[in-house]
Amino acid sequence: MKKIFKILAISGSLRKLSTNTLFLKTMANFCPSNITFEIYTNLNKLPFFNPDDDIEGLNLIEVERWRSALANADMIVLVSPEYAHGVTGVMKNALDWIVSSGELLDKPIAFPNISLRAEIAYSHLLEILDVMGCKLLKDCSPRSTLTTPYMLADATEKMILEDPEIIERIKALWKNIESNISNF
Ligand SMILES: Cc1cc2nc3c(=O)[nH]c(=O)nc-3n(C[C@H](O)[C@H](O)[C@H](O)COP(=O)(O)O)c2cc1C
Repeated sequence: MKKIFKILAISGSLRKLSTNTLFLKTMANFCPSNITFEIYTNLNKLPFFNPDDDIEGLNLIEVERWRSALANADMIVLVSPEYAHGVTGVMKNALDWIVSSGELLDKPIAFPNISLRAEIAYSHLLEILDVMGCKLLKDCSPRSTLTTPYMLADATEKMILEDPEIIERIKALWKNIESNISNF
């Protein structure tokens, strides 16, 4: 039987009409049939990271869900906005929970910067993902074909889900992912 390839997608924005999350939703619409594409939407349910709490016996249900979701995925797609030249708090908090448990070690990851700006947070996140041992998918650099022309004020769900330019870029990303799957 053909193996189903599992992708976990994560958006670093909690906004209802987040361009980053909508980008992932649009990606889901074009997901090839041999791949599953799940979007993890509970970054806001994770408690604030405290190493003192990271011990067996404490009831860290969402932390366990987060770690299992990452561990069970064959690949991660991560997108995130920049806030005040930094990584968003929810994204950094979620990543801090897996520094010691190591779910991202050797995990293939596509990390497109879909904003026209956000380069400082992108570089910072790149550094974090690198130190966690991720295998970065090639051709997902900040100035790849994947930037979207939308900023906070002007995006609507319809604009992003139906934008032919974004759909074209998403198809290119899927092509890139598919051509890399055999190497993972
Ligand atoms: C509090 C706040 C701070 C921001 N700071 C930056 C910034 O430093 N650099 C930048 O490029 N964009 C910044 N932005 C713009 C967001 O990155 C941009 O609106 C992005 O589309 C938000 O992503 P989202 O649509 O997925 O929520 C900021 C937005 C907010 C709300």
